[in-house]
Amino acid sequence: MTAAELRRKYIEFFKSKGHQEIKSASLIPDNDPTCLFTTAGMHPLVPYLQGAKHPSGTRLTDCQKCIRTGDIDEVGDPVHLTFFEMLGNWSLGDYFKKEAIDFSFEFLTGKDNLNIPIDMLAVTVFAGDENAPFDAEAFEIWKGHGIPECRIAKLGKKDNWWGPAGTTGPCGPDTEMFYWTGPKPAPETFDPSNKLWVEIWNDVFMQYNKTADGTFEPLSQRNVDTGMGLERITAVLQGKASCYETEIFASIFAALDEVRGIETPEERTASERIIADHLRAATFIIADGITPGRVDQPYVLRRLIRRAIREGRKLGITGKLFTSTIAQVVIGQFGEFYPELVERKDVIISELDREEKQFGVTLENGIKEFQKLIDRVPAFVERKVISGKNAFNLYETYGFPIELTCEMAAEQNFTVDMAGYEEAYKKHQEMSRAGAEQKFKGGLADHSEATARLHTATHLLQAALRKILGEHVEQKGSNITAERLRFDFSHPEKMTPEQIAEAEKLVNEAIARDLEIVCEEMDVDSARARGAMGLFGSKYGEVVKVYTMGDVSCEICGGPHAARTGELKSFKILKEESSSRGVRRIKAVIGAPLN
Ligand code: ALA
Repeated sequence: MTAAELRRKYIEFFKSKGHQEIKSASLIPDNDPTCLFTTAGMHPLVPYLQGAKHPSGTRLTDCQKCIRTGDIDEVGDPVHLTFFEMLGNWSLGDYFKKEAIDFSFEFLTGKDNLNIPIDMLAVTVFAGDENAPFDAEAFEIWKGHGIPECRIAKLGKKDNWWGPAGTTGPCGPDTEMFYWTGPKPAPETFDPSNKLWVEIWNDVFMQYNKTADGTFEPLSQRNVDTGMGLERITAVLQGKASCYETEIFASIFAALDEVRGIETPEERTASERIIADHLRAATFIIADGITPGRVDQPYVLRRLIRRAIREGRKLGITGKLFTSTIAQVVIGQFGEFYPELVERKDVIISELDREEKQFGVTLENGIKEFQKLIDRVPAFVERKVISGKNAFNLYETYGFPIELTCEMAAEQNFTVDMAGYEEAYKKHQEMSRAGAEQKFKGGLADHSEATARLHTATHLLQAALRKILGEHVEQKGSNITAERLRFDFSHPEKMTPEQIAEAEKLVNEAIARDLEIVCEEMDVDSARARGAMGLFGSKYGEVVKVYTMGDVSCEICGGPHAARTGELKSFKILKEESSSRGVRRIKAVIGAPLN
């Protein structure tokens, strides 16, 4: 079964069980300052897991685009990916453990579904600890389906718990399903540490709320959150050791072979896998409105593209642009399920071409920097070494792979302090990993009154900007903390002081009118007929929430918002600056006294 067939089968299965299909949310989290990218199917659904009403009901299913950069340096080996698709089904206060496990079992083993023989499966359940008891219910349900006790492992919080680790919020035990990928028959007893047992699905039972004092209290609404990585399940079912060996990557590799003018090789190398993964990720990120830049998502995007280019050089690709060629294959392959790829095709190609040309210049500068390092060492010094710190700087700032630095050093009778380099590299990796974990741990969006009001202010600001600057103004990003809003929008040039003052004036007028904020649920066509903003990304037939603020703003949005615009008291723009090419950024606050 191909990945595309599997994706369809999964969604159709859950639709037949009363679930509504929802479209994948953007890779860029909406109003979540704690996370750079959407990392799991549940991520965009957090407000609904916390009790907000979802317009599509209490049973949902989808295939969500995800990016995880925690393991970015691992990409190249046969298993790691930065971009992946996660299949999921959700119960928002609807069914719980029994149905969730029943559905999983039926989908995995059903003749018309994945048809996996039961003796190829094993599961884990939560063993219990001082905070929460052993999940006897999940254990019994699996047994009831004929999974023998010796194939049900009981594991602790590290393995069988999902939710905020250090913070507060909904969480609970999970049960994970494993598939035997070794020679048949599978061992009778399940040993979760045996890597031939591969995890294929995770059902999380959100039944607790972790409170600020560290206790776990039962949640009023019990949810189910499940996640199945599409690439991994595809590989496993096709009997492939790696998702890079499936058809998901075949046409990308074929295009790369063509660029290099080579025949299809027997095996793929790390460089080829890095190029395929990183350019697939980059294509999807650009389609979600990000362009390469120096911080946050734009920086991650730049890193992905540059690393792919470097690997391309290692493979001997020089003197021609190749990243957009690969992107076109990605668009062709995934454009049907993710129409934003097709809609943004021109931007994807032009941004990749631009970045690739620009990186050529950076590489030149890196070579100059390298020569300076060499020239600094006097000729009489016998042991000529490039320090680990300098080698790491060449990697981090100029994108020089350490192998390249070593090769160039050797040509001039230098060595590289590899231990020092490893140390600098590890230190940096730990820092970025800690940062990533911190960001995800805090990933449950903040829905205090202050953020709801800032969210409302963002709608009013967007309406004002469209009035003053024109209809080309579209949201490119939004990030709200309890203190301020940050709004990125398409506009080619710096705003004048008069335009900024005018935008503040329009928003303050809407606040002074104390407009009621009306939320209505309707299908996309009705929303379109209303002229609601934010239609991009919505799917035909899907039910959406439309927030209307008098005659000022009408926008599709997940909310939450203030009840009336008057709550905002006042609005002030602190800064207007460039975010990336063609995108401006405004930081603004509310509630401050006007002067
Ligand atoms: N949220 C769970 C996961 O990502 C299902 O594994």
